Amino acid sequence: KETGLGSAPYIYLFQDFWCPTVYVEGVNKFQKHFDAKENDVFVASFPKSGTTWLKALTFAIVNHQQFSSFDHHPLLSSNPHELVPFPEFMYSYDLHDQILSLSNMSEPRLLGTHIPLPSLPESITKSNCKIIYICRNPFDTFVSAWEFFTKMKSESLPDLTLEEAFEKYCNGIMGFGPWWSHVLGYWKESLTRPDKVLFLKYEDLKEDTIFHVKRIADFLDSLITQGGESTTVIENIIRLCGFEKMKDLEVNKSGRIFDVVENKTFFRKGEIGDWMNYFSPSMIEKLSKIIEEKLGGSGLSFKYVT
Ligand code: A3P
Repeated sequence: KETGLGSAPYIYLFQDFWCPTVYVEGVNKFQKHFDAKENDVFVASFPKSGTTWLKALTFAIVNHQQFSSFDHHPLLSSNPHELVPFPEFMYSYDLHDQILSLSNMSEPRLLGTHIPLPSLPESITKSNCKIIYICRNPFDTFVSAWEFFTKMKSESLPDLTLEEAFEKYCNGIMGFGPWWSHVLGYWKESLTRPDKVLFLKYEDLKEDTIFHVKRIADFLDSLITQGGESTTVIENIIRLCGFEKMKDLEVNKSGRIFDVVENKTFFRKGEIGDWMNYFSPSMIEKLSKIIEEKLGGSGLSFKYVT
């Protein structure tokens, strides 16, 4: 049991990852009871890596025919976490109605998860359902988490300084961490089962959004092929899910989700390299060394600045 950035006062080392204590029971139930469908699509991530953005894009891609009007789109009135919910959250908080409604969701079901690959329910790993994973350089991920968890209006959060939270993060201690194990688990699976796991990086998605949105659509066999119009559809999707556009929506300015989280906390800066405003030279040195050690030889690397 430890304190660290996460959505509870304690995080608990459970099945080799640091699970927020409120989630431990829920993860157990999720593993036991969740029945994946062959055509399910999971948006998986380590927290603060661009989950909200990827959920929005995936929802818009998969439903581009049903919701072809970009003036009356569900994403204009609902937060992406409502449209692409986290089942582990439903099981953790015993949201029976939501758990029941999982079986009636329109197909393909779009769901989210922060759980590391080895702890996913077997029905997800063994079925043909697909996983789109997003990660982000570990410096920006830490800063985004620091800002998010210190702003979350909850008395149950640990009272840590930036330096204390950073020390813990460097020891792998953050909800759903260690960061490197999370990322490497999905990375390796994407290399051996590229039809199962599409591995994306936040920085790549920012720098060539069109290319990566097409990759997501191809991976999901979501044919955006209306001849010459396909580019327009993709451009509309990207615009709809753009940072400024989403941040400015009424639902994301004033709404809240999961009771304790205000939607606006999911939209902060949306930049690559904000870590430079937080990291001291010794922090840079320390985390760089750890990342080099942990990711060395994996073939995985990140962009840290634009
Ligand atoms: P910052 O805190 O660096 O601004 P998650 O969705 O996994 O919680 O990640 C949140 C991070 O993604 C935040 O980063 C947030 O600003 C950024 N983000 C949210 N929506 C985005 C969008 N539509 N485009 C780009 N970045 C987005």
